[in-house]
Amino acid sequence: MTTPFANSSIRRRLVIQLSLIAAILSLTFYLIVRFVAEQAAIDTQDNILAASATSIADALYSERGEVNLELPYSALSMLGSISEDRVFYRVIVDGETLTGYTDLPEPTPLPIPSNAVFSTFDYRGEEVRSVAVARTVSSSGQAVNTTIIVAQTRLGLEAISSSISTTAAFVGVGFFIFLTTLSLLSAQSALSPLRRMTQSIKRRGPHDLSPVKTQLPSELVPLVAALNKFMARLHASLTESEAFVAEAAHRIRTPLTIVRTQAEVVLRKLEKPEDKKALRKMIRAVDESSRSAGQLLDHAMVTFRIENLLTAKLDLGEITRDTCEHLSPTAGLKDINLIVRIPDEPLPIAGDSILLQNALRNILDNAIKYSPADSDIHVTIEKSDHYEVSFTDQGRGFGKADLKSLTKRFSRGDNASDIVGSGLGLTIADEVARAHKGRVHIRSNTEGPGACVSLILPRV
Ligand SMILES: Nc1ncnc2c1ncn2[C@@H]1O[C@H](COP(=O)(O)OP(=O)(O)OP(=O)(O)O)[C@@H](O)[C@H]1O
Ligand SMILES: [Mg+2]
Repeated sequence: MTTPFANSSIRRRLVIQLSLIAAILSLTFYLIVRFVAEQAAIDTQDNILAASATSIADALYSERGEVNLELPYSALSMLGSISEDRVFYRVIVDGETLTGYTDLPEPTPLPIPSNAVFSTFDYRGEEVRSVAVARTVSSSGQAVNTTIIVAQTRLGLEAISSSISTTAAFVGVGFFIFLTTLSLLSAQSALSPLRRMTQSIKRRGPHDLSPVKTQLPSELVPLVAALNKFMARLHASLTESEAFVAEAAHRIRTPLTIVRTQAEVVLRKLEKPEDKKALRKMIRAVDESSRSAGQLLDHAMVTFRIENLLTAKLDLGEITRDTCEHLSPTAGLKDINLIVRIPDEPLPIAGDSILLQNALRNILDNAIKYSPADSDIHVTIEKSDHYEVSFTDQGRGFGKADLKSLTKRFSRGDNASDIVGSGLGLTIADEVARAHKGRVHIRSNTEGPGACVSLILPRV
């Protein structure tokens, strides 16, 4: 039996597709969390920067026509609360730097009083975030424009976003593992009806070709319907072939038997030795054909039964005794003694009785056929961890024949040319033995001339 080659797996495909979706979802989740967290951190810094700049702007005052500033401590300390970042500020009054870092760049466009302007740039070798706030201060009745710029390095911000990114990455990976496990479980459960169906078909007996009636999901119904139709067709065709084999056997053997009988009658009437010789040749050819037809049809029947092996509990001793009884008239024709020594106890075995009888009959038939008249054939069964049914004769033996090749189809030994045969007897015995997990053992008789052929079968 050949197992179909699987070039893909639905489970693997499902798991890969679901895992890909899980990976995309996890990555999207990671990117969103990172973006939102970074934005939140930037907004927080911007708010503090704006509050700081506004509190500096609030501290501007005018005195004797000049705008002055009493820098409030809280304005810069609130920025320090974020981290160890460096803070820079610059207060510009009427275009002149009143206090702070004179090189701190002014933003473009300049802020208008109601709007703070935020920007990010490199200052003194570090990236800074800055806010510029505009305020108009009235001095001696004149409106003086002031700009307050507060900037802060972004180390704290970067630390926060990197920590959030790491956390988001861990959560993303966890999310991915969780989803992949879920997808594995769901693929497993989605395919369980398929597994149940396979089990229910596997559990069937070899002859069970009845339709599958398991409860199925709708997707599997067309497949099982096709399978059921196929089994119905197979059942019909098997029944047909069985009938055909029996009919063919009958149709071939019957006319051959008639030809043979008629030839025998004619033979008795003939007088010329050359005519008799010719007719004898014809009879021999008819015998060969009849034997070949019989063996070919037996072989076809055996092959059919092996393919549909139906085993039952049998008694090997009983089957062997029946076979001996069946062939004892043939042995009697040659005055051959069948000495049967079988243990007087049940010898249980699981098998097909017709097949086993056929195998034993072919081995015993050989022993009788290749034995001289007035000899003995010993039939024994030995019981150890297996059974060994042996047929030992005192005939011509195998000579120089290659023993292994004798079980091949149509293989006959050099010693058998004078005896009618088709070379299928041991093939049938060997095929039956293998179908029952046993084998045929062919060897010479160790206690004198002759052959010893055994059928070895496992015990139940
Ligand atoms: N008991 C035996 N003694 C001697 N030779 C044997 C014996 N059994 C089998 N052989 C040899 O093995 C060969 C194969 O046996 P097998 O039964 O397969 O074929 P066959 O007897 O020639 O033909 P058939 O198909 O009619 O039985 C025989 O031709 C014969 O040479
Ligand atoms: Mg034979």
